Amino acid sequence: MEPVNLAIIYYSATGTVHTLAKAAVEGAEKAGANVRLRRVAETAPAEAVNAREEWAQHVQDTADVEVASGDDLEWADAVMFGTPTRFGLVSSQLKAFIDTLGPLWFHGKLSNKVYSAFTASNSAHGGQESTLLSLSNIFYHWGGIIVPPGYTDPIQFQSGNPYGTSHVAGGGPPSDVTLQAARYQARRVVDTMAALKAGRPA
Ligand SMILES: Cc1cc2nc3c(=O)[nH]c(=O)nc-3n(C[C@H](O)[C@H](O)[C@H](O)COP(=O)(O)O)c2cc1C
Repeated sequence: MEPVNLAIIYYSATGTVHTLAKAAVEGAEKAGANVRLRRVAETAPAEAVNAREEWAQHVQDTADVEVASGDDLEWADAVMFGTPTRFGLVSSQLKAFIDTLGPLWFHGKLSNKVYSAFTASNSAHGGQESTLLSLSNIFYHWGGIIVPPGYTDPIQFQSGNPYGTSHVAGGGPPSDVTLQAARYQARRVVDTMAALKAGRPA
């Protein structure tokens, strides 16, 4: 059987979500997937980015990561989205990218794929779950197959978010437990999609 194609599409201003995305790449590749890691385009004005040193630095550090396009979704059997929590919702940068996908949606090209998501917030009760749930609304519209991590692996009892891997950035960079959770989530996405592919007629 052909390996699963997984697109990991994220936005990150200061690197936290990018770190989670890289851990997801590791988990997915270990599970045998072809993986495309893609960042969405920055939409904030340069003055805003440059006013924050960590933001400007991260933009510079990830200049070589390819920018997401609709083709990545067409190619993918499964898609993981990563976003910082912005007032309890998905970041406008990721949403702006998602809003370019209307034509693919219209032609039925976003349906029947596995979708899953991960996030970071500054504080523990800062809206991680509402952010992940807000992304799920979009997957429903697309006819996606939502695959959350739940409590399906021991690591989930340590990392603790059944909706998707999440990190509280105010407490420092992602811990090893969080990175393991991101790797596990990606593996679960790949394994689920592989089972679906195996059961579909060619
Ligand atoms: C406009 C804006 C809104 C934010 N809203 C929230 C929020 O609702 N809850 C929260 O805990 N953190 C909030 N944050 C903090 C970000 O979620 C946090 O900096 C981010 O997760 C770090 O991820 P990154 O390093 O990948 O950019 C907000 C930050 C900005 C700039």
